[in-house]
Amino acid sequence: MARLSETLREGLSLWGARAGSQDEGAVLEFDARRHRKFVAHGASVAAVALVGALLFWPIDWLVLEGAARGAFVRWRVVVALSAAIYLSLARWSAGARAMPSIFVAMLVACTTVAGDAMARAGDPQTPFLHLLYLPLFATITLPFTLSTRIAVTVCVALSAALGYWGLHPSYRGHPAGALWWSVMLSVTSLVVWLGHTLFLLARENFVHQRRLATFNQELELHVAERTAELRALLAHIEGVREDERTRIARELHDELGQELTGLAFVARHTSERFERDPSAIRGNLGEIESGLQRTTSLVRELVSELRPRMLDDLGLVAAVEWLARRTEERSGVRCLVRSEELDGLPVAVRTVAFRVVQEALTNVLKHANASTVDVELRREEDTLVVSVRDDGVGLDPQRVSMTRRGGAGLLGMRERVQSIGGTFSALRAQPKGTLIRCTLPL
Ligand SMILES: Nc1ncnc2c1ncn2[C@@H]1O[C@H](COP(=O)(O)OP(=O)(O)OP(=O)(O)O)[C@@H](O)[C@H]1O
Ligand SMILES: [Mg+2]
Repeated sequence: MARLSETLREGLSLWGARAGSQDEGAVLEFDARRHRKFVAHGASVAAVALVGALLFWPIDWLVLEGAARGAFVRWRVVVALSAAIYLSLARWSAGARAMPSIFVAMLVACTTVAGDAMARAGDPQTPFLHLLYLPLFATITLPFTLSTRIAVTVCVALSAALGYWGLHPSYRGHPAGALWWSVMLSVTSLVVWLGHTLFLLARENFVHQRRLATFNQELELHVAERTAELRALLAHIEGVREDERTRIARELHDELGQELTGLAFVARHTSERFERDPSAIRGNLGEIESGLQRTTSLVRELVSELRPRMLDDLGLVAAVEWLARRTEERSGVRCLVRSEELDGLPVAVRTVAFRVVQEALTNVLKHANASTVDVELRREEDTLVVSVRDDGVGLDPQRVSMTRRGGAGLLGMRERVQSIGGTFSALRAQPKGTLIRCTLPL
């Protein structure tokens, strides 16, 4: 029942939808193509009529006799000729504005001849009379507007009446006439209703297709943009990785290498001294010890920069606090961390959250000219919310490289966050500064 009422509502809404309430451009385009559609549909109706007129011809010889046969032959000749003429016109002058009028004139003429033929084939008592409903159906697929459709269908019905009752006055007043007129009225209404519904469906279908095509175009554009972004990001990441390797190699060489060379020298010197006077090497051992301590803290710092061990050992909050202290020490920007207990975070979430905060703080130092940064980490339902807010100059929408014009920091953050199903935003904060915010599903 509910399904039936839904179907009815849908049908009514189709009739209720005015052309203007749909995509106006598409409706106009549909109207512009109506002529071509008319000629094509008219040609298919004519082809069916031509084939039908010729195919059933031999049956007349078998079934009908005398006047009835002659009347049917005449009718078939008129239909076949009209259909052939229309098909030739559709082939050679499809663009002519008069094509719809020619079609309707031919249909009216054929129907009048059909009315006359049916009247000659038998009186109103015979079933020939009721074949005259059929020509009305020729208009169903033609793309008329409602008023034209009503006018054309009524014209065809009247031409059937003219051929039958008009040209044969002796049949008038026959009791079968009342039944014929009432059925003809019902068939006319049905044909108008069916024809207009088909017309509206075709128009709706056209509008949907247009919308779909536009949507597809936008989608393709979006995909192309995203692909370009990802390609650029990949190139950037490769560059950053290479820079990082160069930096680590330099630090290993300059700092660690120097320290180790020094230690090797001291060790050799110590062993030589030991040969001569074992008690004199105390000072050298102290030197070796402090050299080893320096080397250890250098290695620790290098390792921390690559991936702070405390992120795995002590958790996200401790690692972010370490990052904040380091940022403060290096830049003098006040760095506040607000956070609740965040135990048991998945490794992927921990890593993404840490990298987002790391890049956001780097950006604050590089671009913001801020005096304070607030980092907040909190659980909200099934997500971890990470926000970094500074009180600096604020994001410049012109320079923000969510597209690939600037750096890849923001883009990389967004990609990382989206790769684990989170959401990311970079906005101007109120009253000033920048707010980086992401939610990561847990
Ligand atoms: N906290 C901030 N305050 C002001 N502007 C910012 C801030 N963060 C980013 N921006 C602006 O957004 C732009 C893009 O930042 P993004 O991190 O993507 O690139 P980058 O820092 O310039 O380069 P990269 O991160 O690749 O080394 C920056 O050039 C800067 O103009
Ligand atoms: Mg950056």
